[in-house]
Formats: sequence, structure tokens, C-alpha cells
Amino acid sequence: MTTGTALSDFAKRLDRTAEDTEALLGKLLSDTVLPDEIARPKRLMEAMRYSSLGGGKRLRPFLVVESSAVFGVPRDAALLAGAALECIHCYSLIHDDLPAMDNSDLRRGRPTLHKKTDDATAILAGDGLLTLAFDIVTRDEIHKDPTVRLLLTRALARASGIGGMVGGQMLDLAGEGRFGDREPVDVARLQQMKTGALLRFACIAGAILGQSSPKEYQALDDYGRALGEAFQIADDLLDVEGDAAALGKQTGQDAALGKSTFVTQLGTDGAKQRVRDLLAHADSALAIFGARGEVLRAAALFVADRKN
Ligand code: IPE
Ligand code: IPE
Ligand code: MG
Ligand code: MG
Ligand code: MG
Repeated sequence: MTTGTALSDFAKRLDRTAEDTEALLGKLLSDTVLPDEIARPKRLMEAMRYSSLGGGKRLRPFLVVESSAVFGVPRDAALLAGAALECIHCYSLIHDDLPAMDNSDLRRGRPTLHKKTDDATAILAGDGLLTLAFDIVTRDEIHKDPTVRLLLTRALARASGIGGMVGGQMLDLAGEGRFGDREPVDVARLQQMKTGALLRFACIAGAILGQSSPKEYQALDDYGRALGEAFQIADDLLDVEGDAAALGKQTGQDAALGKSTFVTQLGTDGAKQRVRDLLAHADSALAIFGARGEVLRAAALFVADRKN
């Protein structure tokens, strides 16, 4: 398969997973009250749908689906796990955009949720999505073996929480110097946590659902770490060099807030070189899968070259 064919096949697969994820999230965020729920308040549901539907590349669900496909995991189970992860991602974006955090007005080409509604509604919509994610990821349809569901749930919690995304967001804000003296920032660690952890989870989800060998798990872990770091460096580069219209979010925000990124640390050329090194690393991690790793190989190229 040539690189061109691989990339066009990749685009089709990404579109298909995005469509399926959109439909699934639409159902999960419907007004229908579930057993043990008391009611689904209209304003909350509308806010959650606003920030979860109709936008986003759906890269994380895609990685869950494709890492699962390597092991022949049923697509519907993978889509459900991907939808849970996307709920966490959308919640993280809602809270990231709040005035108390990055204070962003635009997301996915539309006003951010707190701009569209109010801060309290945005905080609660984020809380609702975080909680819904754990409702989804523990469902029976994810895997027949409850131990597998438990392992997946724990991995999601660890990627999302203190030692993952939430902890990384804390380091990101501390790196601005907003809590006192600006201390030297370990940018690699910050990125690994705030963005890398959820992307890594997406890649190991397939190994968990597919009950892979330890070696295969390790390969996806290595791949996911490299891809996660490359993804955030690309995001930081886009904040400097990207086009706001294509991105659907404001540019120049990191410099305005005094964020510490690989771009501030290595310069744009150094950051681009680091992305290339990470791509080579991601590629070699996949060697163990042979042709089964083709789509994941293309995903790494997409992450590095993306324009939005
Ligand atoms: C944006 O993530 C936030 C970061 C982690 C850098 P994405 O670029 O995946 O955002 P969407 O979901 O496609 O809008
Ligand atoms: C956000 O990083 C990462 C999370 C939401 C966890 P950024 O603050 O760089 O993301 P954007 O640029 O606003 O999308
Ligand atoms: Mg941020
Ligand atoms: Mg931000
Ligand atoms: Mg950014």
C-alpha cells in the first residue's frame, strides 16, 4: 500500500468512526431517563449536547476503534469505549475554556459553552460528561468479562484524573506562574499528563479489550505515548502558526497566557524536529503488528500534519 492510498483509506476510516461516534453520543445524551436516574434536566442536556455533538475530529474514539481492530474486538464495543473517552475529552475542553482556566471564547468554530450559556452551566455540563463516561465504560456491552471492564475503567480513571489529564491541567496553570513564582516547568511531563494520558489510553484500550499479550500491550503503550506527545506539540505549533478559521479556536493564546510549551522551550524548528523523532518512535513501536498496524501508522502521520 502506498502512503497516498494509506492516507485516503485513513481519512475514510476516520470519517466513518466520527459518524458512528456522533450517532452513539446522540443516543447516550438523549432526554430518555435511565433506570436509577430521576430526571434529565433540559438545560443540562442541551449544554452537554452542545459541547459533544456536531464537531471535533473524534481522534480519540478512532484510536480506540483502531487499536481494538488490531485484536479483532467487536466494533460496537470499541465504539462504546471510544464514546466514553470522548465524553471525558469534551468535558476537559469545556473546563479548559472557562474564564478561570484558559478563558477561551471559541471552540470547534462556535462560541465556547460558557459564552453560549454561563459558567455554572458549563461547569455542570462538564461534570455530567465526566460522570456519564464512567456509566458508559462499565456497561455490559463493553466486554462479557467483568474483569476486563474493570481494568478498562481503572485505566480510564487513571488517565483522566490526578496522575493524568487533571494533574496535567494543574501543572499547565502552575507553569503560567499564576500561583506565585514561576517555577521551571518539565514540559514533557506536563504534556504527557494533560494531553498524552487520554491519547495513550485510547491506544491501550484495544490491548485491554483484546486481552493482548504483555508485549503487544507494551507496544501500544509506547506508540500511544509518542503519539500523545506529538499531538500536543502539533497543537502548540498550531497555536503559533495555525489558521484560526481552520482550527475553529483562537490562536496566540499560549503566548498571551505565558504558557510553557515545547515551542517556548525548543523554538518552532526544535519542536518540529521533536515531532519527527516521535513519529519515528511511534512507527517502530508498531513493528510487532506488521500489516495490522497500518492504520495506526497513518494515524501518527495525521496527528503530526493536521491543520485543525
Ligand atoms: C484539543 O483536542 C485539545 C487538546 C488536547 C490539545 P483536539 O484537537 O482533539 O480537539 P477536537 O476534539 O478535535 O475539537
Ligand atoms: C488542553 O490543552 C488540554 C485539555 C483540555 C486537557 P490546550 O489548552 O492547549 O487545548 P486548546 O488549545 O485550548 O484546545
Ligand atoms: Mg489549556
Ligand atoms: Mg486551552
Ligand atoms: Mg492549545
